Amino acid sequence: MISVKGVFKQFGELEILKNISIDFHEHQTYAIVGASGSGKSTLLRMLNGLEVPSKGTITIYGHDIVQDLKFLETIRPKLAMVFQSFNLFEHFTALKNVMFALMKVKKITAAAAEQIAIAKLKEVGCDHRLHHYPSQLSGGEKQRVAIARALAMEPEILLFDEPTSALDPEMTAEVLQVIKKITLKNLTSILITHEMNFAKEVADTIVYMDQGQIIEISDTHTFFTNTQTERAKLFLKNMI
Ligand SMILES: Nc1ncnc2c1ncn2[C@@H]1O[C@H](COP(=O)(O)OP(=O)(O)O)[C@@H](O)[C@H]1O
Ligand SMILES: [Mg+2]
Repeated sequence: MISVKGVFKQFGELEILKNISIDFHEHQTYAIVGASGSGKSTLLRMLNGLEVPSKGTITIYGHDIVQDLKFLETIRPKLAMVFQSFNLFEHFTALKNVMFALMKVKKITAAAAEQIAIAKLKEVGCDHRLHHYPSQLSGGEKQRVAIARALAMEPEILLFDEPTSALDPEMTAEVLQVIKKITLKNLTSILITHEMNFAKEVADTIVYMDQGQIIEISDTHTFFTNTQTERAKLFLKNMI
């Protein structure tokens, strides 16, 4: 479904990604783990065109999204991204935040968008917060609204970049529960997380990155019980 081949990324003199190759398959859940600064976010941002590789190719459904910008535009609404920092519009209510992209990108009427938005906010347990502004919501609620907004677009691929890193443990739990529910659906999810127990629970595959390289790609059970590389073993040891 998504194929990354020989990707490098340089920021000035710094080589941030070094020869990354990985295939992401449909209806699977991937957890990308690794120390901060290892290039996880840069890789994820490349999958929806927010960053462009210095070298290498990224194809989605066989189309090169680096070369074929027209295709990137058509596929982008199918790739939803959830950020650590929520990225909600502060001057819009929860409801309007979810409606906005629907109306703008999908060009549907306000009435239709409102119906979808309410349903999605209900799905994440935030339908009692429809008319609240982000400043009136808890961190967990903000992230659940952001997830509702992502789901409203009916994406095929969900990209999560440390969705709970800005949250306290209680809110982390409520957001992880929502994400778990979503990953059980027939979606392809790629999740950057430091929550190893959660990764163990929801991911089919663990991708371990270190210093701009993918060091290990293993099915989740293997990663945790029969870690293949010394570096990943050390990483896991330090996580406990
Ligand atoms: N736009 C940028 N310009 C310069 N350096 C960047 C930029 N984005 C990320 N980096 C650097 O790239 C490295 C990897 O960053 P990132 O992909 O965010 O890692 P991770 O998500 O694993 O913490 C970091 O050292 C970071 O400072
Ligand atoms: Mg990051």
